Amino acid sequence: METIIVTGGAGFIGSALIRRLIFQGQYQVVNLDKLTYAANLNSLASVENDPNYCFELADICDGPAVSRLFDKYQPTAIVHLAAESHVDRSIEGPGEFINTNIVGTYNLLEISFRYWQKLPADAREGFRFLHVSTDEVYGSLGQDDKFRENSPYRPNSPYAASKASSDLLARAWHKTFGLPVIISNCSNNFGPYQFPEKLIPLMIIKAMAGEPLPVYGKGDNIRDWLYVEDHAEALVTILRRGRVGNTYNVGGNCELTNLEIIHKLCKEMRAQMPKSPHIPYTQLVTFVNDRPGHDFRYAIDCSKLQNELGWKPKENIDSGLAKTVSWYIQNRIWWQDILEKKYRGERLGLIEDLKDT
Ligand code: NAD
Ligand code: TYD
Repeated sequence: METIIVTGGAGFIGSALIRRLIFQGQYQVVNLDKLTYAANLNSLASVENDPNYCFELADICDGPAVSRLFDKYQPTAIVHLAAESHVDRSIEGPGEFINTNIVGTYNLLEISFRYWQKLPADAREGFRFLHVSTDEVYGSLGQDDKFRENSPYRPNSPYAASKASSDLLARAWHKTFGLPVIISNCSNNFGPYQFPEKLIPLMIIKAMAGEPLPVYGKGDNIRDWLYVEDHAEALVTILRRGRVGNTYNVGGNCELTNLEIIHKLCKEMRAQMPKSPHIPYTQLVTFVNDRPGHDFRYAIDCSKLQNELGWKPKENIDSGLAKTVSWYIQNRIWWQDILEKKYRGERLGLIEDLKDT
């Protein structure tokens, strides 16, 4: 049986990937996570007692700790998702983004290389380092065109710059040292278990409470949305059949302005909670100061992944939103705990507010 170390497995996408790998029954999965504010082991309740799953509390920046885990588990692959992931927080405090996303990735690459070098020939051949990244590394698009695998890197936020740096390190460890790296760059994910600092869960939770829905700027920025389970499926596909040294873009072919997706969300919430006193939810939309450096448009061309590896998303935006809204309605305990202990939904990432800190 293969042993996969998943870094950041207690986060939104990492937990979806681990649930999928464990349900497939063919993998031993080690969840290596530091448990930052964004982590939630409750997201793994459905697999926590599975004999093929185990959790290891560790920081990817801690070389000796990570090396010990490589020695202990002898992985056949690493899927690296651990990161600071929220653009607004990268404006508030870029330091952790530099540490985890850049230094942490360097550390994992270096430890993986040392480990991989000593493997017997057939194990070296099969080993993979899948570096999970974002389309934000490519910067911002105008009304036309899409990001392709060979699009230039033009990151604009500290988050995007830190992920771009990590992508380039991953590339260099392949080109220079021969480590079998594959990189994936994915568009905006949504779905169950997403931390409510991100647009969709934040809007659902605020709308349920009848609170204003803060729309940055005019709400005309465009994102390309992908249901998280489809991303998890793409990662398994790339891990199994992706070509070493290649990059694969992952996206939902689903471009919407922020206002469009919020309106869809309000409609879905109305359908699922027809008796709410806050209907119509669209009346809660409130335009607020724009995000500094706010990228206008992201759009992914994922034809390489579709044509070469045969992946395509199973959910469309309406089916994905319906599942997501239903999950947040049925899993109040999961997010209420976060609101009480970690994050109350306040605005993050305004430069004017930083002067007071
Ligand atoms: P998340 O913020 O929900 O989870 C990140 C996880 O990483 C948490 O469990 C956290 O505890 C862990 N972590 C953070 N720092 C760590 C450290 N130093 N050592 C060990 N663990 C650490 O993130 P997510 O939304 O699930 O994103 C996962 C990955 O996918 C990230 O690399 C992100 O850049 C990338 N990505 C995210 C999206 C998206 O829409 N969310 C889209 C494309 C790519
Ligand atoms: P977000 O979920 O933070 O993802 P990203 O910045 O990585 O794309 O934001 C998605 C879009 O929604 C982005 O254009 C910013 C916007 N947004 C709001 O308008 N209001 C909000 O409260 C948040 C969190 C985001």
